[in-house]
Amino acid sequence: TQDLSPYELLGGEDVLSRLVDSFYANVSKDPDLSPLFPNDLGETARKQKQFLTQFLGGPSLYTEEHGHPMLRARHMPFIITPIQAERWLACMEKAMDEINIEETIREYMLHRLTMTAHHMVNHP
Ligand code: HEM
Repeated sequence: TQDLSPYELLGGEDVLSRLVDSFYANVSKDPDLSPLFPNDLGETARKQKQFLTQFLGGPSLYTEEHGHPMLRARHMPFIITPIQAERWLACMEKAMDEINIEETIREYMLHRLTMTAHHMVNHP
């Protein structure tokens, strides 16, 4: 497995797509997160699938369509406190449990996503 990307270890497009759909289903039910997001999460989920694909070493789908991610800047219009970061990560952990992500890749992803989520905090 030494030449497989995390994207491939996760299970590629199919598993990532199911993970992101499950994640946004959780977001839509979370009282601390749902007010920040549009009612229709279709386009949000589509962009997140593109982003996580390249984040995990798959094809650069997000950048091809939207340019450099600049994630912190793109999140500035939203008030994100440590509470939102923890809720975001909790929704992702729950989705990982629902999709049955294998333990090694689960821990790897949560480690990197935890750092990224805390980087998005822009309000005390
Ligand atoms: C977009 C919230 C963390 C990746 C968004 C949007 C919101 C949001 C409200 C706009 C949705 C829309 O209008 O479609 C949050 C909150 C976070 C968080 C509250 C808590 C820390 C993250 C993390 C990542 C991420 C950790 C990456 C792993 C993205 C991407 C987009 C996005 C790729 C789409 C950007 C675009 O418009 O092109 N987020 N986010 N977010 N978020 Fe987050």
